[in-house]
Amino acid sequence: MLFRKKKTAAPRVIPTHIAIVMDGNGRWAKRRGLPRQAGHKVGAEAFRTIANYAKSIGLSYLTVYAFSTENWKRSDEEVGAIMELLERYLREAIADMDKNRVRFCFFGDLSRLSPELREEARIAAERSSKYEGVQVNFCLNYGGRAEILRAAQRFAAQCAAGEAKPEELTEQRFSELMYSAGIPDPELVIRPGGELRISNFLLWQSAYAEYYFTDVLWPDFGPKELDLAIDAFNHRNRRFGGAK
Ligand code: IPE
Ligand code: IPE
Ligand code: MG
Repeated sequence: MLFRKKKTAAPRVIPTHIAIVMDGNGRWAKRRGLPRQAGHKVGAEAFRTIANYAKSIGLSYLTVYAFSTENWKRSDEEVGAIMELLERYLREAIADMDKNRVRFCFFGDLSRLSPELREEARIAAERSSKYEGVQVNFCLNYGGRAEILRAAQRFAAQCAAGEAKPEELTEQRFSELMYSAGIPDPELVIRPGGELRISNFLLWQSAYAEYYFTDVLWPDFGPKELDLAIDAFNHRNRRFGGAK
């Protein structure tokens, strides 16, 4: 008989901030012979489940990539369906707000979205600002490069107005010009859907993030998959350029 030393597992560390590229909706639908939109619909449910689970495990920030600056290249039909789904999703999120108690924040250039969607985003952010616990940063018409450019333009405008000098710019100050101002960088960035790329997501903020890639498609990504990603994170040796 084999004796196994009883392992006293170290308590697992839950990162403060997790970011997720919600990818794989289209393939999920295709595999079932359904239109891509059907995948987006189930993907929205997966998001709802993950946001509630994130709250239950004590995560402080969850940043999700919902629509990129590049996603406008898709057919009018698909973009229209995604926008409709987002509107419906936000309307429901606003109605159920007191049940889920998730704080909403939006990253991205919302000016290209419909006035209705913009208004819902504004209401969702305003009404949920009172909740404690997890904050969801919902990335809509978001691109990492566009965000960096916007920050550079904002700093240049401060310089032109005589409120700042170029040599005063530090990483800290630049971070404060991003959509994520005041939020710690993500420690863990997860990409379901099987692609091994980051597709213009959080380029500035994820300088030292741990990446976790999985073939599971976003509509199938549930609490179990998030737990696996957090477990993997707990086994990473984060050196930040040092020697350990
Ligand atoms: C992610 O799923 C949702 C958006 C980008 C809006 P996809 O629609 O990219 O799904 P795949 O990658 O084609 O499977
Ligand atoms: C990234 O997924 C954007 C979102 C999930 C919102 P894409 O499906 O757009 O990325 P690529 O095209 O595979 O790089
Ligand atoms: Mg995709």
